[in-house]
Amino acid sequence: MYPTPLYAPAGHGAFTDVYEPAEGSFLLMDALEKDATVCLEVGSGSGVVSAFLASVVGPGALYLCTDVNPAAAQCTLQTARCNHLQLQPVITDLVQCLLPRLNGKVDVLVFNPPYVVTPSDEVNENQKRSVMLHSQNHGLFYLVTVSENHPIVDVLRDSGLNGELCLTRQAGHERLSILRFSKSSLSTTGSQEPS
Ligand SMILES: C[S@@+](CC[C@H](N)C(=O)[O-])C[C@H]1O[C@@H](n2cnc3c(N)ncnc32)[C@H](O)[C@@H]1O
Repeated sequence: MYPTPLYAPAGHGAFTDVYEPAEGSFLLMDALEKDATVCLEVGSGSGVVSAFLASVVGPGALYLCTDVNPAAAQCTLQTARCNHLQLQPVITDLVQCLLPRLNGKVDVLVFNPPYVVTPSDEVNENQKRSVMLHSQNHGLFYLVTVSENHPIVDVLRDSGLNGELCLTRQAGHERLSILRFSKSSLSTTGSQEPS
């Protein structure tokens, strides 16, 4: 997926004694590519969150962004371009077209769903489908919620994820929260059990 960097000078001219990349080099790069961090934002909209994530984590990771709205995918691409970042928008419902290939392979999963109080069975289905992509052994899942949707923590606990309140802020008449889920409990200072 990632192009091999240009390495023309190695093994030639002033660099004759410099090891020219060979099979071992390419195998090593393939292994590194396989283990590279995968970030996925579901419902990327403008792409600003993924662009921010890409600025923080750096160019070594793959940034996938899904949205059902084709205009959002286009906008995400534009946001990436004007920030000189690489984002990969995909038009799909939630994570549908990424399954099963990315099952268990996503290291950072981000979802800021439309802010509506969602019936718990619907929460159940939507979040579980997304969570299937979450890395088997590590990885973090950041979910924007309103306080009425905090029961999602219990739903996802059944899928083996522990949730905690990461940040909370009043926005007009709504109290928005960022819930952070991981396979094992994070004991980050300032985090607490969501109520
Ligand atoms: C609240 S906006 C968040 C946009 C952006 N992530 C942000 O935080 O600024 C929700 C986004 O989810 C998208 N969306 C809604 N339902 C979706 C679905 N079933 N699958 C993928 N994206 C969806 C919407 O088109 C919208 O862009």
